[in-house]
Amino acid sequence: MDLLLEQIAAATAYLQSFSFAQPRVGVVLGTGLGELVKHITIAHSIPYQQIPHFPESTVESHKGHLILGHIGTTPVIAMQGRFHYYEGYTMQQITFPVRVMKALGIEQLLLSNAAGGMNPAYKKGSLVLLDDHINMQPENPLRGLNSPAFGPRFPDMSRPYDPVLGQKLQAAATALGAPLQSGVYVSVMGPNLETRAEYRFLRMIGADLVGMSTVPEVIVANQLQLPCAAVSVVTDECDPDNLHPVSIEEIIAVAGTADKLLSSVFAQVIAAL
Ligand code: HPA
Repeated sequence: MDLLLEQIAAATAYLQSFSFAQPRVGVVLGTGLGELVKHITIAHSIPYQQIPHFPESTVESHKGHLILGHIGTTPVIAMQGRFHYYEGYTMQQITFPVRVMKALGIEQLLLSNAAGGMNPAYKKGSLVLLDDHINMQPENPLRGLNSPAFGPRFPDMSRPYDPVLGQKLQAAATALGAPLQSGVYVSVMGPNLETRAEYRFLRMIGADLVGMSTVPEVIVANQLQLPCAAVSVVTDECDPDNLHPVSIEEIIAVAGTADKLLSSVFAQVIAAL
């Protein structure tokens, strides 16, 4: 734990050495969802491998840059590419950037992801605001010794996604003519997609969406008492009674079609924070 604190301090000090205002909002961009960067007046774009103790992204669709800049007058820090458990990282590595962004001073965190839509009301390419989640990843980022500096040992999770931030995203999406649906996201390990029987099971336990990310970061954000919100792009329709094969290329392509709208929604909200 002392080691983790030292590593956070080293990464934070490195990022503070760039001349930049303290970021107020952190953003984690999901698979195929990099377009928000076009809304950022970029001050610095820092490859992950230059940042002390940052894991290196292994997935091609994730660019692996930490971006410091402004959206409107709001100073932001954005992760272009995130880390997943299926890549082989530990949960501590996956959530390390959230701890560093918090140490840099962010007050709110926005996340996006590509997810499979199990709720039959969801159509491919639509946007869904996460209302709640189910953690089915095999590990927890808070396991192990806990520093009081991180927050409570047993964080409350009664409202993991900030309702005020959610309402702002909803209002921005509605103003752009595309109201958000809302739903429960279940996080699985991956990297394989699910079988028909697994989709049936995940739907039965109360999930509307399934993906391989987001929940670890949200757990850590909650421990850090960092308000957060997340939006999924529905990249494929997961109907167990009518399931078509799907490839990562298709998932990325569909994410790309929704990226412009999602980025506009995020940019509008961030500029007004
Ligand atoms: N499962 C199914 N479909 C998906 C996923 C997933 O984890 N992510 C994106 N589409």
